[in-house]
Amino acid sequence: MRKATISVFGLAVILIIAIAAFNSLQINASIKDKDEPASVTVQSNKPPVVENTTPPPDQDAEPPHVEQPSPEPDDGVKNDSNSKSENVTADSGQLVVEPATAAPESIAALVNKQYALPEDYEPSDLVYPDVDFTFDEKIDKRKLRKVAADALEEMFEAAKEDGIFLAGVSGYRSHDTQKALFNRYVKKDGLENARRYSAEPGHSEHQTGLAIDVSGSNGKCAAQDCFAGTKEAEWLEKHAAEYGFIIRYPKEKESITGYKYEPWHLRYIGVELALSITSQGITLEEYYNAAVPVSNE
Ligand code: DAL
Ligand code: ZN
Repeated sequence: MRKATISVFGLAVILIIAIAAFNSLQINASIKDKDEPASVTVQSNKPPVVENTTPPPDQDAEPPHVEQPSPEPDDGVKNDSNSKSENVTADSGQLVVEPATAAPESIAALVNKQYALPEDYEPSDLVYPDVDFTFDEKIDKRKLRKVAADALEEMFEAAKEDGIFLAGVSGYRSHDTQKALFNRYVKKDGLENARRYSAEPGHSEHQTGLAIDVSGSNGKCAAQDCFAGTKEAEWLEKHAAEYGFIIRYPKEKESITGYKYEPWHLRYIGVELALSITSQGITLEEYYNAAVPVSNE
């Protein structure tokens, strides 16, 4: 009887402890619900809202600096960034360079490695001089500006009277033609060599319509080194200035002009200036006190 009483009492104690433990769990669960919502999966047709941590692009902001490899020039031609447009006053204070950039139409415009012509520049008064050429076609390279064409006709006539028969080889060239030509020379001889005898596009006097390459009427040695010392080359050296032309790239002046000797390349600058420059034995750069910062000699 006593044993049964103890067992009933023990069971009651166990029951009370169990009920108390259950209540405690309930209270904890209710506190947790208030602080942390239970994760709930909700079916929805709306796209999920994605928190945007990137600020909207700022139109005025600098793009982030990213190191890029220097692009190869697409045509193998260096982009010449030192074309200048400012005037240069000579020591005398008398002469002011007329850079091609600023005055492409000027008869005395300086076009060289330093001074470029505007890319789209095309002289407005190109004509076909009435003289022999080494080819028959009526194409661009047969053209010159009117004033230079007239002077060329006069000069070829005077040469003829002296028994010297001349022919035009190459006169006016557009920017695009010069580009194609220069690229061809770069492929053939490499950039460094090509730059010694061919102008980069925009930097050729041929684009002014005031320059022409001249040879003997048989075209032998046309625009080649072997033209030097021929009777035609000697006649031109002696008389070209009387008609307003200069030998633009004289012997031993490469460090000043930037180009090798070209006894065939004549540039029209007007009689007065041509006589002055030729009699002094100087180049157009020296006349303007604007030597090209290039030295290959
Ligand atoms: N040969 C001269 C430099 C030119 O290409 O204009
Ligand atoms: Zn030339």
